[in-house]
Amino acid sequence: MTTTERTGSAPKPTGPLSTIDYSERIPNNVNLAGDRKLQRALEGWQPKFLDWWKALGPALPTKDVYLRTAIAVGRDGWAHFGHVPMEQYRWGIFLAEQDPNRVIPFGKHKGEPAWQEVPGEYRAELLRLITVQGDTEPASVEQQRVLGATAPSLYDMRNLFQVNVEEGRHLWAMVYLLQAYFGREGREEAEQLLKRNSGDLDSPRILGAFNEETTDWLQFFMFTYFTDRDGKYQLGTLKESAFDPLARTCEFMLKEEAHHMFVGTTGVQRVVEKTVQVMVELGTDDPAALLAAGVIPLEVVQKYLNFQFSVSMDLFGSERSTNVAAYYTAGLKGRWQETRRKDDHELHGDTREMTVVRDGEFVQETVPMLTALNLDLRDEYVADCENGVRRWNQEMEDAGLEQRLFLPHEGFNRLVGSYSSGHVSPDGRIIDAAEWEASVDGWLPLDADRAAVAALMVGVYEPGEFAGWIAAPKTGINDQPVEFDYVHLAEEGLTA
Ligand SMILES: [Fe+2]
Ligand SMILES: [Fe+2]
Repeated sequence: MTTTERTGSAPKPTGPLSTIDYSERIPNNVNLAGDRKLQRALEGWQPKFLDWWKALGPALPTKDVYLRTAIAVGRDGWAHFGHVPMEQYRWGIFLAEQDPNRVIPFGKHKGEPAWQEVPGEYRAELLRLITVQGDTEPASVEQQRVLGATAPSLYDMRNLFQVNVEEGRHLWAMVYLLQAYFGREGREEAEQLLKRNSGDLDSPRILGAFNEETTDWLQFFMFTYFTDRDGKYQLGTLKESAFDPLARTCEFMLKEEAHHMFVGTTGVQRVVEKTVQVMVELGTDDPAALLAAGVIPLEVVQKYLNFQFSVSMDLFGSERSTNVAAYYTAGLKGRWQETRRKDDHELHGDTREMTVVRDGEFVQETVPMLTALNLDLRDEYVADCENGVRRWNQEMEDAGLEQRLFLPHEGFNRLVGSYSSGHVSPDGRIIDAAEWEASVDGWLPLDADRAAVAALMVGVYEPGEFAGWIAAPKTGINDQPVEFDYVHLAEEGLTA
């Protein structure tokens, strides 16, 4: 099954389309008007969100942007496109349709009705899971704040801003759950989500990859390919949750997430396409010559890939975790495609093989399946990541070039889990610290590599024009032409 099929599939319709009520200050399909207390809490949070968006959201002043807005959450027909001023984007609360007959698909409560309220015994764990997921959403907006100024085209700028507004909406989704189901504690966590900031020394975002700077557009594409894809898999586990409002929220978020990964897949592909084209024209693979010709050498693309893949692998946590076993057994977090798995969905006594490093060698160890569920999820992720790399390599293949991009070994550059105590090369050799030190400059982006890429990043704001380091896409957004005026910059607004 392809990535798009997996991520783009809408939930099975269980009734009429649930339409989002746009007459409300906070658009929603959860009948917010019927819950005055929650409505007041969310209306109190909304101005703080808008302040955060103004301070740490997209920095480039725009008049309006051709954006997709959700209008209904059932199959198809949920997206409306039009030019809107970004600060007037209708962020709101949209949950996938409720299935009134849904039962818990796994764990010790398997077969019981899904929970519509938070059980007291799991309150702390659910609060933590939702807070950690919520923290990643505004973090990526902060990381990508300055990219608008160097957008390679209006088409790409529009895609960046679409991703940004939707990550903002994902924050809303998590804040809704916090405020609706966790009382005062939830309201406090909702405030904290706006107070921690990416890269802040005193108050950083919770997870490492979300404190790394997004330095340029190549990294943005790698981020949306590898790190948004981690998000997809995390949401996939929460979509199975026994806590039904969380499951329905994540199910709807997954539909938006598919576009973010499209931006990454096609973004890297267009970078590679342009580089390959110039390699063929000039008959060279010399990195200096390619940089001088204004394209990004494949070696540099590989280094960026190595970096983003390895930091995203860390987001899956330790291969072995008693926490994840407890989450599973309790029904809080399932497996990817839980309901399609052909086993007892409880996993007691089940085992699997896991690679570990012992005495300088990779060896297989048999471990209980329940404590290895982070690894189970990570393996699904890696298999999915391979698809894009294959697609990118098709550009070289078609041009008759020998070079190929590849995913580094799962143990490469890891700070979390069983590989973090030693060093593994991208091609999967266990190496000592001395070899790592001597070689790492060829594997991860140096400041000089980032500077060379940044030097190519000059904003291109004419409709239909593209920066020299990236190929134009084959088609535009929502059947619009590639040369459509996807973004109107603020200056136009002043002169119009
Ligand atoms: Fe998100
Ligand atoms: Fe995303």
